[in-house]
Amino acid sequence: MGSWLNGGVWMMIMTMTMVIALVQAENPYRFFDWRVTYGNINPSGSSPQKGILINGQFPGPEIYSVTNDNLIINVHNDLDEPFLLSWNGVQLRKNSYQDGVYGTTCPIPPGKNYTYAIQVKDQIGSFFYFPSLGLHKAAGGYGSLRILSRPRIPVPFPEPAGDFTFLIGDWYSNHDHKTLKALLDRGHRLPMPDTVLINGNGVSFTSSLTVQKGKTYRFRISNVGLQQTLNFKILGHQMKLVEVEGTHTVQSMYTSLDIHVGQSYSVLVTMDQPEKDYSIVVATRFSETELLTGSTLHYSNATKKASNIISERPRDQLDFSLKQARSIRTNLTASGPRPNPQGSYHYGLIKIDRTLILDSSAALVNKKQRYAINDVSFVPADTPLKLADYFKIGDVFKAGSIPDKPTRGGMRLDTAVMDANHRAFVEIVFQNREKILQSYHLDGYSFWVVGMDKGKWSQASRREYNLRDAVTRSTTQVYPESWTAVYVALDNVGMWNLRSEFWARQYLGQQFYLRVYSPVQSLRDEYLLPKNALLCGRASNKHRLIISP
Ligand SMILES: *[C@@H]1O[C@H](CO)[C@@H](O)[C@H](O)[C@H]1NC(C)=O
Ligand SMILES: *[C@@H]1O[C@H](CO)[C@@H](O)[C@H](O)[C@H]1NC(C)=O
Ligand SMILES: *[C@@H]1O[C@H](CO)[C@@H](O)[C@H](O)[C@H]1NC(C)=O
Repeated sequence: MGSWLNGGVWMMIMTMTMVIALVQAENPYRFFDWRVTYGNINPSGSSPQKGILINGQFPGPEIYSVTNDNLIINVHNDLDEPFLLSWNGVQLRKNSYQDGVYGTTCPIPPGKNYTYAIQVKDQIGSFFYFPSLGLHKAAGGYGSLRILSRPRIPVPFPEPAGDFTFLIGDWYSNHDHKTLKALLDRGHRLPMPDTVLINGNGVSFTSSLTVQKGKTYRFRISNVGLQQTLNFKILGHQMKLVEVEGTHTVQSMYTSLDIHVGQSYSVLVTMDQPEKDYSIVVATRFSETELLTGSTLHYSNATKKASNIISERPRDQLDFSLKQARSIRTNLTASGPRPNPQGSYHYGLIKIDRTLILDSSAALVNKKQRYAINDVSFVPADTPLKLADYFKIGDVFKAGSIPDKPTRGGMRLDTAVMDANHRAFVEIVFQNREKILQSYHLDGYSFWVVGMDKGKWSQASRREYNLRDAVTRSTTQVYPESWTAVYVALDNVGMWNLRSEFWARQYLGQQFYLRVYSPVQSLRDEYLLPKNALLCGRASNKHRLIISP
C-alpha cells in the first residue's frame, strides 16, 4: 500500500473505486467520426494558407461530455503524412495507450483511421485536444473539450446564461507547418509568430458575441498556441475566475488574465455595463513585440461601437503575472467531479518520496539548436515507448536515461525516460535559468502548484509553499529566471509525457517520458493494449499480450 496515504483515506478511495467500477457499465458512450483534411483557411485575412481541418472545421468540433463519459472518436487521416491527436488535461486513467503522443501511440498513417476510446473519468472542466506530431499544431487541428458535472453534483455558481469557448493562440500566417518543421530540423530557431487567433480568426473585430444586459456568461479560455503567453480581457468588465483545468477556484475578480501556452481558465462575466459594444482583447505578454487581436462583445440592442482597443502592458509584467498566479487558489469547500469537497484531500500532509529538480537549457549540438531538461535533449526512437514496454522490446529506451537533478555536464541527445514508482508522492521543481517564460505540461495527471518565485530554488524555498489550497492543474508556467514547484501523486500507471508547451522547444528535445511503473502487472492498475491499437516500428509484427487480472 502506498506510503503517501494513511489507511483510512486509502480505504475510502478503494471503496469509491469499487462503487465507480460497479456503475461503470452505466457511463454513457458518445461517438464521434472525424475526418482530418487539409483545407484553405485565411485567418489573418491577407494570407490564405493550408490548414488542418476536422470535418471541414477550423478550429475542430467541440467535444461536450459529462464526468465519466466514454468518448469513442474515430479519426480518419486524409493528410499526406502521419497524424495523431492528444487530449490536453484529460487524465486517461490506466490508459496511456490512448494519449496520442509519439511515445504512447503509433501514428495514424495517411489514408488510415484509428478509433480512440477514452474515458473522462473523475474529471470536470475545460480542456482541449490538439495534433501532437511535428508542427501540425501550427496548422490547426485543435478544438475544445468540455467535461460537465454530472447532474446532482453541485457546481459552485449558478447556471450561466451562456457558455462561450475562446481558443486563443499565437499563429504563423507566413509559414506553413512543414516549413516551420524544416526550419527546426535544419537546426534553426523559429521566428516570432505573426499574429494571434481567437477561435481561428486573426482579423480584429470581425467576430462578435451577443449578450444581454444583466445576464452572466461563462467564458472558457484555452491557450492553444505555440509559445506566447496571452493576456485576455474584456474592456469595462471584471472577470470572476471559477475554474482552472478542472479545479473550482476561489472566486476572485480579475480585470485581465495571463494565460500561458497549454493552460485553460473559466471565468464568469456579468453584463453590468451601459449597453454598447466592448472590446475583447487578446495580447501577447513576455514578448519583445506585442501581437494583439480583438473581438467584439455586443450588448443585444446596443448601437454604440466599441471604443478602440486599449493595450496596456503592466510596467512589470513578471511581478503582475506572478502576483496573479499566486492569487489563484482552490475553493476547498466546493465540489469537484464528486460530491465531496475538493479540499478533503490534504496534499500538504503527505510525505514526499522523491524530489525532481528539472532544469531547462538551450544549446547547439552538432551546430544545431536543441533544448533539454537536465541536459538531456529528447530524441524519438523507432518504436513508441509504451509499445516497447508492453511487448518487452529491449534497446528502444533505457529507463533512467534522464537524471533526477541537473548534472551540468553538457547537453546530450537521448530517448529520455524516467522511471517512477506507482503511488510515489513526488515534488517536482522546475528551475528556469533562461530569460524566457516556460510552460510545462504533464500528461495523465494533474499536480498541485505549491509555489513559484523569482531566482533559484533552494530547500528554504519550501517555506513559501502553499500547502493548503493550491490549485491542481496539468500545465504550469515557470517565469524567466524563476522556479515553480509542484506536487504530484503518481497514482496512474503508464508512460506519460512531460513536456515544454513551447512547441519548438518540445520538438527539439525539451520533454521526456515519466514511466510510472508497477511491478505487478494487473488490470487493476493498467488496461491492456487496445484491441484496435495500430502497431509500428519494432512492434509491427507483435500480438497483444494476455495478462490475467
Ligand atoms: C477504422 O474505422 C472503422 C469504421 O469505419 C472501424 O471499424 C475500425 O475499427 C477503425 N480502425 C481502427 C484501427 O480503429
Ligand atoms: C466556495 O464554494 C462554496 C460551495 O459551493 C461557495 O458557497 C462559496 O461561495 C465559494 N467560496 C469562494 C470564496 O469562492
Ligand atoms: C433592449 O432589449 C431588451 C430585450 O432584449 C428590451 O427589454 C429593452 O427595453 C431594450 N433596451 C433598449 C434601450 O432598447
